Amino acid sequence: MEKLVSLCKRRGFIFPGSELYGGLAGTYDYGPMGVLLKENIEQLWLEHFRNGRDDMYGVDAAILMNPKVWEASGHVSGFADPLVICETCGRRFRADQLEDPTACPECRGKLSEPKLFNMMFATKAGASEDDSATVYLRPETAGGIFANYKNVVDAIHPKLPFGIAQIGKAFRNEIAPRDFIFRLRELSQMEVEYFVKPSAWEAAFEMWRETMHAYAAALGLPQESVHELEVRADELAHYSKRTIDFEFDYPFGRRELWGLAYRTDFDLSAHQTGSGVALEYLDEETNEKFIPHVIEPSLGVDRTVLAVLASAYREDELGGETRTYLVLSPKLAPVKAMVSPLLKNKSELVAKAREARAALRAALPGTQIAWDDNGNIGKRYRRQDEIGTPFCVTIDFDTLGEKPEFKDTVTLRHRDTGEQERLTVAEAAERIRAALT
Ligand code: GAP
Repeated sequence: MEKLVSLCKRRGFIFPGSELYGGLAGTYDYGPMGVLLKENIEQLWLEHFRNGRDDMYGVDAAILMNPKVWEASGHVSGFADPLVICETCGRRFRADQLEDPTACPECRGKLSEPKLFNMMFATKAGASEDDSATVYLRPETAGGIFANYKNVVDAIHPKLPFGIAQIGKAFRNEIAPRDFIFRLRELSQMEVEYFVKPSAWEAAFEMWRETMHAYAAALGLPQESVHELEVRADELAHYSKRTIDFEFDYPFGRRELWGLAYRTDFDLSAHQTGSGVALEYLDEETNEKFIPHVIEPSLGVDRTVLAVLASAYREDELGGETRTYLVLSPKLAPVKAMVSPLLKNKSELVAKAREARAALRAALPGTQIAWDDNGNIGKRYRRQDEIGTPFCVTIDFDTLGEKPEFKDTVTLRHRDTGEQERLTVAEAAERIRAALT
C-alpha cells in the first residue's frame, strides 16, 4: 500500500486533501493523472450501465436537497454508526470495527458505551440561523434519483422496466476514515435505481449482477480477486430486502467494493407518504397502478479507482533495472501514447517528432497523446510506465533516413514487455486505435 500511495503522489494521481495545511482526514484530491483515470473509469461505467442500453436515463441532481428527502428516506433517523470514545485518550472508534469494543486499541483505556452517531453532514441554507434552515450534504446519490423519479416519468414516459443513473459526490461523516481512498468523508458514487414490476425483481437483480461482473472484467480486475458476499438479514440496510456486496482483495484485506441491493418499494412509498405526491406507475396495458420496486447497483468511484490501481501495480527487471509500472487497460490509462524525439537538442528530430505527434492526434481525435523530451529516453519510458501509458513512440536517426530502409518510420514501444517495433506513423496510429476499441 505504501508503494502505491507514494506512486499516486509522485506521479500526480492522488494527493492528500488540503495537504498545504496539514490535511483534512477523509479527503483526497485527484491530480492530473488521477482526473483522467477517474474520468475513464466513469466513462466505462456509463458504457456498461447507461449509454449502451435503451432503458436507462441520466440525471445530475443537486447535492443539497430539501431535508424532507432525508427524513422520508430514513437517513435522518437511521443513518448512524455506533461510536465509542476512549475515556483515557479521547480517541473515537466505530464499535463494530473493533475486536474488543470495551478497550481502546491505542492505549487500552476503557471505552464508553456505544452511542449512535448520525453520519450526515449538516449545514445551513441561506442567511437564517434557525433550525428550519438545516440542510444535509447528500449521503448517497440515490436520493436525487428517487426525488426525480416522477419528473423523468412525466418527461420521458418510459415503460417499466427502466432505470435512472447518476454519477456524483456523496458525503459521510465517517467516524474512522482510513485506508487511503477506501473510506472517505467526501466520495463519489455511480448509482443506478432500476424500476421494475414487483414480480420482476429477481430477474432484474440477476441481470445487474452480471453487468457488475462484466464491468469488473472490463476494468481489468482479476476475476479471482472479486467475491460476492450475501449480506445477512440482520445486517441489511434499513431499505433493503436483499443485498450482495461485491468484495475485492485490497492490499489491506478483503473489503466491500460495490453493493447490489433490492430496495423493494421502500423509497418511492416513503417519498409518496412524505411529499403527499402520488408516485404510482400506471401500467397502460393492464390499467394497474402500483409503486415500482427497485434494484440498485451502487458503485463507489474511489474504491473502484483504488481496486484498479492495486490490480495494475507491478514491479519487474527490465534492461538491468528495476522498474515500476501500471498494467492499466489502454481504455483506462490516463495517457494513451507518449511521443518523443530521441534527443531534444537535435532540431531535425524534434521537428519530425512534432510532426508525428500532430499526425497521431489528427488520426485519433480526443485521445491523450503526450509529449516528453525531458531527460534521457530510458527515464522518459520509466515515467510513462509508472502512469501506465501503453505506448511510447520515438523518433530517432533512422526516422530521418540514417538507415534508408527505415526512413519515416518510428519505434512503437509496448509498456508491458518493453518490446519495440518499427512502423510508419499511420501504422502506429492503427495499433493505438485497435488497443482502445
Ligand atoms: N445507495 C446505496 C449506498 O449508498 P452503500 O453500501 O452505503 O450503499 C455504496 O454505498 C458504495 O459507495 C459502496 O459499495 C462503496 O463503493 C461506496 N462507499 C460507501 N461509503 C464510502 C466511503 N466512506 N468512502 C468511499 N466509498 C464509499
